[in-house]
Amino acid sequence: MAKPDTYSREDAGQPASLHPAYASTVLRSPRQPLVRIPQTITETTGPRDWDRLMGGAMADLTTQHAAMPQGQRIIVSGRVLDEQGRPVPYTVVEIWQANAAGRYIHAKDQWDAPLDPNFTGAGRVITDGEGRYRFVSVRPGAYPWGNHYNAWRPAHIHLSLLGPAFAMRLVTQMYFPDDPLIEIDPIANAVPMPQRQRMVSRFDIATTQPNWALGYLFDIVLRGSLATPMEQR
Ligand SMILES: [Fe+2]
Repeated sequence: MAKPDTYSREDAGQPASLHPAYASTVLRSPRQPLVRIPQTITETTGPRDWDRLMGGAMADLTTQHAAMPQGQRIIVSGRVLDEQGRPVPYTVVEIWQANAAGRYIHAKDQWDAPLDPNFTGAGRVITDGEGRYRFVSVRPGAYPWGNHYNAWRPAHIHLSLLGPAFAMRLVTQMYFPDDPLIEIDPIANAVPMPQRQRMVSRFDIATTQPNWALGYLFDIVLRGSLATPMEQR
């Protein structure tokens, strides 16, 4: 029998599969060598009508209900780039996040913070011809989690990017600058420095709109030495 074609996903700058300080990785990381699955046309090609499949853009998370959600209004925008710095147009960017109090609408999130009837916390857009995307939302709050005693996640927005095929996906998180919780967060710290900084957005006064919303920039690099680190889960 032919020896399996194995490979390692471990890569400097990407989070290790096993990061014991992030307790869930102890059970979720592989114990056996990974087996490369040959990619066929199913994995390398995809639909050309993402607009129809994803059900329309949801770029503004503050106008999905009867009134404005509670919290600080923000604009998050940036470009999706490849390893050569070229824009990646027509890519689906999805986000999900907690509300301003740090609570998700998900039924399993039952900690003692209020839900906001005017906030679902999910958005999706397609990058334009220059790889740009833009969301309007509210700044998410920090929330506690059960990883260890007194564990709190820094404010963050989850992102998923689909490439030209369903099998091409980047899942990561975006943090906010000057958040003291980042340096004690096992998930953020699963990514070594200086690559960790690539997951921290940048406040931008030019993106900020007077009397309306603070602006943050977050460019996403899909591959290469400047790649945006992937979330472990
Ligand atoms: Fe989260």
